[in-house]
Amino acid sequence: MARSDEQAPLKVLQISDTHLHATVASRMRGVNTYDTFTAVLNHAQRDARWPVDAILVTGDIVQDESRAGYLRFRAEMQVLGPPVFCIPGNHDDPKLMDELLNVPPFKVGGDMRIGRWSFVLLNTFLTGEDAGGLGEKRLHALAVALREHANQYVIVCMHHQPLPMGSAWLDGVGLRDAQQFLSVIDTHDNVRCVAWGHVHQASDRMRGKVRYLSTPSTCSQFLPSSDFFALDNRPPGLRWIELYADGRVETAVDWVQMEPRQ
Ligand SMILES: [Fe+2]
Repeated sequence: MARSDEQAPLKVLQISDTHLHATVASRMRGVNTYDTFTAVLNHAQRDARWPVDAILVTGDIVQDESRAGYLRFRAEMQVLGPPVFCIPGNHDDPKLMDELLNVPPFKVGGDMRIGRWSFVLLNTFLTGEDAGGLGEKRLHALAVALREHANQYVIVCMHHQPLPMGSAWLDGVGLRDAQQFLSVIDTHDNVRCVAWGHVHQASDRMRGKVRYLSTPSTCSQFLPSSDFFALDNRPPGLRWIELYADGRVETAVDWVQMEPRQ
């Protein structure tokens, strides 16, 4: 995809872990996930950064693996305009995603160029597991994609965390072959950003030239640094990512205050 103004940053909205259900009234941990999802989308559309060049959705789109949940997600997202890049999380049904979300403006997995940047969408889903993994085949495909985009800056997008979050229970369901993943990233100097979901909390770290970002859920958040499962009282969140033509990455998280549903 070509861009007319190469000086302006590429603008990306990342949302994650929407955990939608077959019905709009369903709650997860006391939160109506359809309400929080639509509140986050409304918040994004009122921001000065809107419209964005791409929306990144880093998994756990639907909680109950329902067709109706994916159709609802599709209906809300396809009217927004920008391309929507999706990857499955541990709660998703990758088959349903391929069936329902591989029509424009949606794209599930793969790699795309926009201007000086390439997006590599990495599937870390393991059947029947909450943890994620890549294995030799996906690691090899990642290395091939990074070579094919050698002249581009690259953002790698995934569901499971490749870096420890400092939370024992959560790190027990992270990316199993994180070391192998990091060594592929370390041997390709075009990667500038790695962004994920799954952990329902914000984090922002530099490792070498690469910015590693976790993004809050559009519903409830997990308490950072807790060794046992615990909820945080932070509201729904989203992340803005601005990708500059010189490889620079600027980012910010917004928290969206909600009125309780009656
Ligand atoms: Fe997850």
